[in-house]
Amino acid sequence: MVSLIAKVGALSFDKPGMVASGIMDETGQSMVRMLGCGAGAVVSKSVGMKPNEGHANPCFTETEGGMVNAMGLPNPGIELFEEEMKVAVPHGKIIGSIYGSGPEEFGALAGKMEDYGACAVELNLSCPHAKGYGMEVGTDPRMVRDIVSAVKSAVDIPVWAKLTPNSHILADIGMAVQEAGGDAVVAVNTLKAMVISPEFARPVLSNRFGGLSGKVLKPVGVRAVYDLRTVLDIPIVGVGGISTWRDAAEYIMAGASAFQVGSAVLTEGPCVFECINEGLEAFMHDYGYGSVSAMEGAAHERGGRSNRECDRGVLRHQDVRVRME
Ligand code: FUM
Repeated sequence: MVSLIAKVGALSFDKPGMVASGIMDETGQSMVRMLGCGAGAVVSKSVGMKPNEGHANPCFTETEGGMVNAMGLPNPGIELFEEEMKVAVPHGKIIGSIYGSGPEEFGALAGKMEDYGACAVELNLSCPHAKGYGMEVGTDPRMVRDIVSAVKSAVDIPVWAKLTPNSHILADIGMAVQEAGGDAVVAVNTLKAMVISPEFARPVLSNRFGGLSGKVLKPVGVRAVYDLRTVLDIPIVGVGGISTWRDAAEYIMAGASAFQVGSAVLTEGPCVFECINEGLEAFMHDYGYGSVSAMEGAAHERGGRSNRECDRGVLRHQDVRVRME
């Protein structure tokens, strides 16, 4: 018997995949729709103190293996977002994503999300192109510590911190979250990127820079989760380029307790969660993993399975391939 229940600290999710912040999660109705598609939870679009229009078009472009966006954190502001939460919260677990310029704003926003019924808050410490927000505050471990401490003092719900891959001190940032009492880290947000139009001889996006997401990001995210697992004791939620059960399994084996799907909701459609769940369940059954937590960190020597068990897995790999085809 295989269970897809995923535990992230004190929180338990019926399914291990969540909708990542920024896709199909701007309105209450879109969050409700995604909850009905096999996602264990939805992370809301990041919300700030004031309404924000975001960047002018073009703010999205496709690229090989992925996409680059600079939406500019568009949102109605925390006061109006209550209406969306009222619609979504009765239907399932909603994690409230918030962005702020420092500890005070983050604390105030988190308090509101808790009042609105969010089961956890996700601190956006990682948007790669927002002046004064996101990764500009999330790459300084001291600032990260102050923000997480302020939020922990402001709310009783779990506090997750979404980290950037645009840093060579990711482990230090993760440690800052843990030392400040953070309940989990979410890794990773997008990679800072640019696409140029040769015909127009200028960057395609109005903001010039954006964040690279999609399949191309997966090995970066898997590596980040693997590295974080070696230093952190708090749970990790993996995100970046997941569109199949294999991608999800990679993240879990790197050390994630659960995962999020973003770009693939766009490329594969909302049914992507059902496909991942079915594939993951079949894989776990074939390879003798009874639960998501039994698979967690399996690619690490210290947390992994014995060599004999791995050998068994390798031997059966071909059977699984055949079954998939
Ligand atoms: O542009 C955006 O709204 C992106 C946000 C993020 O990457 O966190």
